[in-house]
Amino acid sequence: DAQKSGFKHFMLKEIFEEPMCLVSVMTGRIKNGKVHFEELEGLKERLKNINFVKVVACGTSYHAALSFKYFLENLSDVNVDAEISSEFRYKRQHLKPNDVVIAISQSGETADTLESVRLAKRQGATVVAITNVVGSTLSRESDFTLYLNAGPEISVAATKSYVSQITLLYLLALKIMEIKGIWDEKHEGLIDRLLRMPEIFEKFLDQVDNIHQIAAKYKDFKHFMYIGRGYGYPTALEGALKLKEISYIHATAYPAGELKHGPIAMLGPDFPVFAVAPNDFLFSKTKSNIIECRSRKARIVLLTNEGNEEAFELADDVIFVSNSIDELYPILMTPAIQLFAYYVADELGLDPDKPRNLAKSVTVE
Ligand code: G6P
Repeated sequence: DAQKSGFKHFMLKEIFEEPMCLVSVMTGRIKNGKVHFEELEGLKERLKNINFVKVVACGTSYHAALSFKYFLENLSDVNVDAEISSEFRYKRQHLKPNDVVIAISQSGETADTLESVRLAKRQGATVVAITNVVGSTLSRESDFTLYLNAGPEISVAATKSYVSQITLLYLLALKIMEIKGIWDEKHEGLIDRLLRMPEIFEKFLDQVDNIHQIAAKYKDFKHFMYIGRGYGYPTALEGALKLKEISYIHATAYPAGELKHGPIAMLGPDFPVFAVAPNDFLFSKTKSNIIECRSRKARIVLLTNEGNEEAFELADDVIFVSNSIDELYPILMTPAIQLFAYYVADELGLDPDKPRNLAKSVTVE
């Protein structure tokens, strides 16, 4: 109990540590408005002409990989192929000696990710590890390692490590762009906003009661549909995973535009929708999907940003985060999806720190 510092569960404590983790992951890595990775000095030449990056990961780490894909692909000419490690390792790969593979694993011990790294290295690729655990197998077997510096994560459900992963991956993407000569005010603005993120998180975490109340209302549903577009999609996937892991409520996530290709058939009064929809350039598209869901009488929880005047018209319940730029919502919206899942589980009397059938790190296949 002493280790929980007054929090009911490690999961809640770790969510509240996110502002600190944001500081830790950026410390020493942003100087004079530019990103610095001393660890990657030896990779600089390779990154200059890079136009393809492969990323491998499992679970929550895979969702961080997807956010990285959206970020780097939208802002540069680099293609990012994010693949789940257990799929990557059993498929014929076509890596070339100049290719860079990023392996993401909080624990650095996930068997499928380690095997993927071994396979990539056999094909001559250079592997960059992103992990939280110093001296982990992943860090030992990779060519370069970037540490999350998030501190130990006790709760089985990954929370603070996920926020750190996305932030670190964004910094890495910005570094790649700088090395490639893609750099302008937009990038400077992103760095500026990232530096203000810890403060924005603190402010957000002051108002968890709203999320708690909403979670209490939805705890008895047996199903949940998470939807999102663009940057909202990886967040929707992670939201559904968190809810499944700790509340055992069936949750599924789809790109909002896919609803009409099947999943919408399931929706109705007993099947609510959690829409991750910041008021970004895709909002009008997601809005029409929400309206379609409502016409099936599905209840809507909308996660959006302040100042979205249509929010209450569209949804039964709304969670607001601060206004930001489109690219940063995957970071900004993360505590909201985590807290929603946490409070649902807690309201159901479940222990979110030790979900049934799950292990913190999966070291066997
Ligand atoms: C387990 C954990 C998840 C985690 C996944 C990948 O399934 O329960 O929370 O996302 O492993 O773990 P890693 O340590 O490789 O990030």
